Amino acid sequence: MTEKQYQKPKGTADILPVNQPKWQQIQTAANKIFSHQYGFGKIETPVFENFELFSRSAGETSDVVSKEMYDFYDKGDRRIALRPEGTAGVVRAYVENKLYGPEYEKPVNLYYLESMYRYERPQSGRLREFHQLGVESFGSDSTKLDATQISMVLDFFEEVGLNRNQLMVSINSLGNSQSRDNYRQTLIEYLNQYKDKLSTDSLTRLENNPLRILDSKDPDDIEIVKNAPSILDSLDEESRIRFEQVQADLQNLNIPYQIDSNLVRGLDYYNHTIFEIVSDSKELGSASTIAGGGRYNGMVQDFGGPETPAIGFAIGLERLLTLMPEVENKDTLDVYIVKADEQADDLIMSLGYKLRKQFNLSVQMDYNNRSLKSQFKSADRLKAKFTIIIGNDELASNSISIKNMDSGQQIQVSLHDIKKENFEV
Ligand code: HAM
Repeated sequence: MTEKQYQKPKGTADILPVNQPKWQQIQTAANKIFSHQYGFGKIETPVFENFELFSRSAGETSDVVSKEMYDFYDKGDRRIALRPEGTAGVVRAYVENKLYGPEYEKPVNLYYLESMYRYERPQSGRLREFHQLGVESFGSDSTKLDATQISMVLDFFEEVGLNRNQLMVSINSLGNSQSRDNYRQTLIEYLNQYKDKLSTDSLTRLENNPLRILDSKDPDDIEIVKNAPSILDSLDEESRIRFEQVQADLQNLNIPYQIDSNLVRGLDYYNHTIFEIVSDSKELGSASTIAGGGRYNGMVQDFGGPETPAIGFAIGLERLLTLMPEVENKDTLDVYIVKADEQADDLIMSLGYKLRKQFNLSVQMDYNNRSLKSQFKSADRLKAKFTIIIGNDELASNSISIKNMDSGQQIQVSLHDIKKENFEV
């Protein structure tokens, strides 16, 4: 057989033990901020769902659905897709499990930390398998909830060590569906004048998703868009008042924000408030949006549930990890058992077992007959608080020596007389 070295698929990453402290910190902060302070319960949904769930909600013409979906037919000829985002699956679960029932406190607040899949061109901050920490709230149309979710994501970023001054909150309103339709028409009329100058991508979008042209990265498109009519001028009375209230609520919470009337988001299900949190750090380059979300008041009903207002956001965790300050690995080891004689093998294994099982200690030992010097080096590297040394003398006397690595103090204890207190510093 020829040898072959495998590499991870393009756009994926291994998360190694050395990377875990930051991931742990994210989980702890989510527990504290989302779960404890704001009352969100954790939900997990399948990694794959029916393709249609995503195509209907995110929109057939969105990049996520038309270009980036990992979809396939399973052995039962069902069209399946790996989830490109969390909202559609959570809405499906909300409806299927009837979480709208009277026994549930409203709004129903859910959060998730899950892997997502998008067939994108991999670059820094843009992966094909990535993770989102997201939240969804069902059952309130209050603008106070919009502002509360924005404060919640900022609290979370602060909790994991980000500097709030380096984060910008951008908001916009897409209004209700009537306002959005009005704007679509106005925008098409404006862009039609520049048909010969628009990029090929934008020309296609002009037919099926003109709002997306507003966040085109093409330099010619950017020039044209600069003078495009603003969506905010197309908002009807109800939508306009709502958006003003969201801003008043943000001011009430002392949250600085900017209004970006070209903000549209890449998924089609939004209405009213949409928002993004952008970092000014150079490290992320063009992938500087670390969280995004908004209202999607129509989706629950589209999925067969009762009419239910909803709002949520998701944080891109790989982007967040780049910005988080290094976390010092504070792990220590209770005991390293040093073997001074090969004969001690059996005793060491059973002693290690006993210390773990009876006293709940963390224990490591040598399995490879290495020199004493290497074993003590391991004890140091693992930051062992105690070492136990077992050699010929100890075997003969049925005792062990326990050394406190900090003080250097060493005591001799009979094997039958070992106590948990022997390992307390
Ligand atoms: P999204 O803006 O598509 O929204 O994604 C949210 C965040 O996920 C982005 O701001 C970014 O940080 C991260 N992200 C997206 N694509 C990638 C990628 N290829 N590699 C690394 N990170 C990425 C949503 O997904 C919505 N479901 C958010 C939401 C929840 N809206 C309402 N509720």
